[in-house]
Amino acid sequence: MGFDRTLIITGGAGFIGSHVVRLFVTKYPGTRIINLDKLTYAGNLANLKDIEGKPNYTFVKADICDYETVRGLVRDNNVSGIIHLAAESHVDRSIVDPFTFARTNVMGTLSLLQAARDYWEPAGWEIGGKPCRFYHISTDEVYGALELTRPEGDPSAGESGGGPFGDDFFTEETKYRPHSPYSAAKASSDHFVRAYHDTYGMPALVTNCSNNYGPYQFPEKLIPLFINNIRYRRPLPVYGKGENVRDWLYVEDHARAIDLIFHNGRDGETYNIGGFNEWKNIDLIKVLIRTVDRVLGRPEGADEDLITFVTDRKGHDMRYAIDSTKLKEELGWEPSLQFEEGIEKTVRWYLDNQDWLDNVTSGDYMSYYEKMYGV
Ligand code: NAD
Ligand code: DAU
Repeated sequence: MGFDRTLIITGGAGFIGSHVVRLFVTKYPGTRIINLDKLTYAGNLANLKDIEGKPNYTFVKADICDYETVRGLVRDNNVSGIIHLAAESHVDRSIVDPFTFARTNVMGTLSLLQAARDYWEPAGWEIGGKPCRFYHISTDEVYGALELTRPEGDPSAGESGGGPFGDDFFTEETKYRPHSPYSAAKASSDHFVRAYHDTYGMPALVTNCSNNYGPYQFPEKLIPLFINNIRYRRPLPVYGKGENVRDWLYVEDHARAIDLIFHNGRDGETYNIGGFNEWKNIDLIKVLIRTVDRVLGRPEGADEDLITFVTDRKGHDMRYAIDSTKLKEELGWEPSLQFEEGIEKTVRWYLDNQDWLDNVTSGDYMSYYEKMYGV
């Protein structure tokens, strides 16, 4: 079967990447999707079982840092677009092992950019009649941290007057001020993408998204880790006092935004993606406990005794809050799910997919956590 174009999606076996691959493979049967993934501890082909037999889907196991392999892949498949999600993504791991984050997130992104440029530039940034595009998926963490000016939370604070926990948001104009090795490496990769746009004229854009949640997230991140721990009545390691604030978005809403921006966004632009949905960690954790308890038929809130305050994360950013007005006004994107609905779906998914969780919680992973936090 002939395809009208071929795209590479990197990191497609990971959490967000698997949702993006699924969306593109099913929505665009005329487009060939190559999922390029190294399958690190965070990559799992079980995330894509439902689409692996589709004719427009191909998986390639490769490291984005392997320039020659990536270059060959772009050239041999007439690739006209790259949606780049592959990264080391967990802040705690970056504190323990910053080199791996610099290698993958910075050098890997540079390797992809150069491989694309090598094929696209001589062709006038157009392959098979399709304009080329490099779309880099980044994070709100590059902007640093916002202050907690309303520590008790004010739910009546509207979008224009700031969020419930503070007066300001991250906008596309906010200065980069990354704090963790993870966010420093992501910031550096964002700069390289913009440098390729400004220096070589590569058609490229960047989006910075807030915290995602939903099915297939590796259970080292707060929400899946805690759902699993509540199920088994294991301690819930809350960093510091649990006062840090994160802005949560259901992963399928992020994937929809990526689709919209890849097809309709403007080259050289940055778009922030977020759902105006800030939660203090401790409040979110209590919602998780109540939801898991209810779904499992336990008395609601009975598992709050599992909350265990532990030493804070080093350099722990206090508050993230994204202003996604530009995306709403320019491309009409809005989150589709209310948070309560998203959490309910998410809790039910993890409780219904215990096999998936058991497979990914290998001995290696558990010993890493025991070493870090002793829980
Ligand atoms: P993840 O850790 O779940 O998945 C990362 C994927 O990248 C895995 O499949 C892994 O195997 C692959 N990978 C890692 N190193 C690789 C390499 N050298 N070569 C090829 N593949 C490699 O990550 P995620 O949470 O799905 O995040 C995806 C992207 O979105 C990342 O760039 C992250 O910075 C960004 N992001 C994540 C969030 C979030 O809340 N999770 C929010 C905003 C932005
Ligand atoms: O903001 C976007 C970012 O969100 C992404 O770029 C990252 O890839 C993603 O991992 C996520 O980073 P966070 O550090 O915010 O997510 P994490 O799930 O690790 O932690 C969420 C909050 O919960 C944070 O304040 C730390 C806290 N926490 C986390 C864990 C794992 C705990 O209190 N205990 C825990 O065990």
